[in-house]
Amino acid sequence: MLSLSLTSRWVSLLYALILATTFAVSAPSSLDLTHEQLGIDLFSRQEKSDSGAGGKKYTLEELWAEVEKGSPVKYAAEQEVRKGPFTHEDIYVPKDPYSQPFLTPDYKSIKDTKVGHLKFPKGFKYGVASAAAQVEGAVKTDGRGPSIWDYVAHQYPSSIYDQSTPDIADNHYYLYEYDIARIKKMGVSTYSFSISWSRVLPLGRGEVNQKGLDFYDRFIDAIIDAGIEPVATLFHWDVPLALEYEYGSYRSERIVDDFVAYAEIAFKRWGHKVKSWVTHNEPGVFCPRYDSTLPLNATNPTQYDGHESRFRCTYHLLKAHGEAVSLYRSLKESGQVAKDGEIGIKLDNSYPLPYDSASPADVENAARAEAFNVGIWAEPIFGSGDWPKIIKEAVPSDLLISFTAKDKELIKGSADFFALDGYDIRITKSLPSPQYDSCKQNTSDPNWPICADGSKLAYSQSLKGGWTLGQQADPLAPWLYNSAGAIRWYGKKLKEMYPSKKYYLTEFGFAEPYESDKTEIHQIREDTARSQYMVDYLSEILLSIHEDNVPWAGIFAWSLLDNFEWYIGLRLRFGMQYVNFTDPSLPRTFKRSFIELRDFMNDHLEG
Ligand code: GAL
Repeated sequence: MLSLSLTSRWVSLLYALILATTFAVSAPSSLDLTHEQLGIDLFSRQEKSDSGAGGKKYTLEELWAEVEKGSPVKYAAEQEVRKGPFTHEDIYVPKDPYSQPFLTPDYKSIKDTKVGHLKFPKGFKYGVASAAAQVEGAVKTDGRGPSIWDYVAHQYPSSIYDQSTPDIADNHYYLYEYDIARIKKMGVSTYSFSISWSRVLPLGRGEVNQKGLDFYDRFIDAIIDAGIEPVATLFHWDVPLALEYEYGSYRSERIVDDFVAYAEIAFKRWGHKVKSWVTHNEPGVFCPRYDSTLPLNATNPTQYDGHESRFRCTYHLLKAHGEAVSLYRSLKESGQVAKDGEIGIKLDNSYPLPYDSASPADVENAARAEAFNVGIWAEPIFGSGDWPKIIKEAVPSDLLISFTAKDKELIKGSADFFALDGYDIRITKSLPSPQYDSCKQNTSDPNWPICADGSKLAYSQSLKGGWTLGQQADPLAPWLYNSAGAIRWYGKKLKEMYPSKKYYLTEFGFAEPYESDKTEIHQIREDTARSQYMVDYLSEILLSIHEDNVPWAGIFAWSLLDNFEWYIGLRLRFGMQYVNFTDPSLPRTFKRSFIELRDFMNDHLEG
């Protein structure tokens, strides 16, 4: 597993779990299991099918019955929308920590020395971010269909660190008005959320769920009524289970039409209110998951597996993205969505720093890692319209689907901004010679395609000499550390490699070390590592704008709240608000990081 640790942050998450399970007594251990290990006969449920044709169709009831074979879905204690007006206590922001004497650390003086009175440009978005599967809950409510995450959390509970499910999560489905009032109080100008595809289309396609549309009507209106700008992502990893069962979702070309039909519903319904759209979240984390791991392998109805699935997903996802953008632009032309609307895709990861910059192999490996993590998406969209040269040379032609001239035309230029989920800057080290060369030629090598040396965690986190770039996050997020010092370097690279009129930092955030072990609210609230991360990142973004002329146009801090962090469940906390998951009313408390973020933005936003 460690050997794969550079391929994506999702893989690293899996690695986190394995690390954790190695050291924790009675911890779950089946996170990264293959079908065989899980004892699943892939094709017992439906026939093998080529590019998805012929998979069995399930009704909504049958799909939920499949999910609930594992355990019944749970419901929140509060199942009514918590309505305003909210009292002072409801949206209580703790006193400015600086009103207390002797407070350390003093971020105010740190940022003042670094960025002085520099301002973000006019219209800069001060945002927070969330995702439907991680916050909404109410998974079986008002006609919603299951997603693969509901399926996996119920069918394979030990694949989630604390065996939690998305069933209730933050109960944002009912508490959204309350949550919006709270972020309004913090001066947030923009809220980036995702729409649950299977809430709108319970079977992923076909019949629309009116109650799902009604929910997002109310939700989007509430955001706008609070004076906050909505930013909507159509797909944040929550594949409708029906489409996974029926044809293997993104493995099949059929996903393109289904995604575009879903996008059309969303654009036509909310396109006048939502002016910033994202088609997909971090495909570079999502598609490689088709290789061998849950949740995507658990229901695979096709004969595609391994690398074949991953590259099919990559191609189909880019096509689905391109078609959706082209539709959006034509709706814009005909006045069916806002004239000033914009659309793009969220990409993650970075151009890694070579572990040893004097080693030609490490330098080459860094370029290779960039190509597989970022370039494979960014080059078709922001560059030539084709796969990066490194990818074309590295991936055998039976795996990599070539773009037609029409595809290229569709995908090239299909983003109005570059959206980076830029949590940190990676480090990479090539496998030692001669394994490096043989790995590059051998798709069965467990380290293929990047062929980085993951045999020591340090190789992905420190430079030669043994120092990391900054503070490590919680051990359950071993991939993450504060690498703000390298952000400007990467900003310049981005501008040079993938020119765009605008760059958004659509996600950045930190998992405070050991936060879940803390029991006292005053300890939890004092999230100094996350606060430091926020202040450091924002300072570097300001400098990147002013000194390097990188046109950053907004930041979106991850996350609005502690939430369901995929394989790590509720255990790993990324929120700038603490959520007490043991109290059925799920009370929220602002942490210091949110106050530091607010103060930083107050000081540096234009007028
Ligand atoms: C991102 C992802 C989010 C969240 C975050 C923290 O990659 O888009 O959903 O999980 O990482 O790990």
